[in-house]
Amino acid sequence: MTRNEKQNRQRRTAHRDFWRSFPMGLVDLSDLPMKLPFVILYFIGAVWFLGKRDAAITMLNNAPLTSPVMAAILQNIFTAYMAAGAVALVALFLYPMGRKMAEEELKRVGLTNHEGEAPRLLCKRRDPERSHVTVWVFDNRGISIQEWRDKQSRIETALDITIANIKHEKGKRRILLYAVPAKSDLPDFIPWRDKYLSPDEFVLTLGEGIMGPVTVDLANIPHILLGGSTGSGKSVLLKLLLMQSLCKGATVYISDFKGGVDFPKVWHERCQMCFDEETLLELLATLVNELERRKKLFAEQGYPNIAAYNKGTGEHLKRLIFGCDEVAEVLDKTGMDKAQKERVGQIESKLATIARLGRAFGIHLILATQRPDAQLIPGQIRNNLDCRICGRAERVLSELVLDSPAAAEQIPKDARGRFLLHDGTVFQAYWFNERNVERFG
Ligand SMILES: Nc1ncnc2c1ncn2[C@@H]1O[C@H](COP(=O)(O)OP(=O)(O)O)[C@@H](O)[C@H]1O
Ligand SMILES: [Mg+2]
Repeated sequence: MTRNEKQNRQRRTAHRDFWRSFPMGLVDLSDLPMKLPFVILYFIGAVWFLGKRDAAITMLNNAPLTSPVMAAILQNIFTAYMAAGAVALVALFLYPMGRKMAEEELKRVGLTNHEGEAPRLLCKRRDPERSHVTVWVFDNRGISIQEWRDKQSRIETALDITIANIKHEKGKRRILLYAVPAKSDLPDFIPWRDKYLSPDEFVLTLGEGIMGPVTVDLANIPHILLGGSTGSGKSVLLKLLLMQSLCKGATVYISDFKGGVDFPKVWHERCQMCFDEETLLELLATLVNELERRKKLFAEQGYPNIAAYNKGTGEHLKRLIFGCDEVAEVLDKTGMDKAQKERVGQIESKLATIARLGRAFGIHLILATQRPDAQLIPGQIRNNLDCRICGRAERVLSELVLDSPAAAEQIPKDARGRFLLHDGTVFQAYWFNERNVERFG
């Protein structure tokens, strides 16, 4: 394509977009509350000027010595105000604020199509369900949604926003960015309240994202892998999930090789704890036996899973939740003798069985790790932990947990309790301390 043709084409697009954008601004009155104060100000200004004008004319009549320029200004200022104000108001209602800026900034971060055009901002409106969220509507100009997602953090910097979600509007031509201003990011600290406990079986609440509470349904996504470097808030989040499991009537098993610093006495009273490899192996063996027993039971009675079984028989088989902090430490075989290695091998294979089959039988794993060594958590365990959550982390750890470096890029270095879920949702985990809960288990 010659340069001329390209320029012609860009001109045609600009022409078409110009006309297309106006009805959008007119039709979309959802940000009216934001614009209304300007209209009110305009009329207050008009009344004020009117009052002053009469006073000024009286003054002019009484003191005809004032300079002619001054006299002309005083006589016409009201008309000038009305005209300029009306033009400004029309522009305010028709033109999406920041369009040019958005286009230039997106171009700068490389979000362009083959023609070198950036997406065009059609309008910004308030999300009707969440008043603090702004929806940026873009004509995507042939840029795929995947590209938007890949460049998310750069787009956030460019537009100075935090993006909660990127979606298509009905068709595929328009992209909706759900965002809040970067500075009004999530709070750093949200204490847990009992009312946050989800009423649905077996939904656990992780924390709050920009779009609202973030949850995981263990009936659909049965196991969780939780990663993050030291101090990122893994232990607190792990305990938050285990506490909710207890509240929902599950039996909770905890492996804690750190000698109980993270799990004070109250946990020992409500959960089954294990502190060394031998008891851990016994515990996992019990879980696998229970899994086999349920498998046979469901097969005999013709139920596909625990929810159907409990509903059909009226019994109440409990869900069993196994939580393990620092799982890589448990599975690390370096420096072990043959017998110990064999034992760890058995632990691995039992965890793998539960990871593979646990879902239907209501047996779940929540495993936390801070070590980025991929070989420590075998693929047959890792691949079955579908719910991936990563806090502040280096690239390698983020890759291990989320299969992408996103956590290293999106979670600030000083963040605590801030996590990224496998679907791209960033959330602040509820801060939980066993001493501060009203109801526990
Ligand atoms: N959800 C949270 N909100 C605010 N601060 C948190 C949160 N979770 C953890 N923290 C802070 O971070 C510190 C480390 O948390 P911890 O769970 O022990 O990290 P990790 O287990 O990843 O090393 C805690 O002492 C607490 O002060
Ligand atoms: Mg910890």
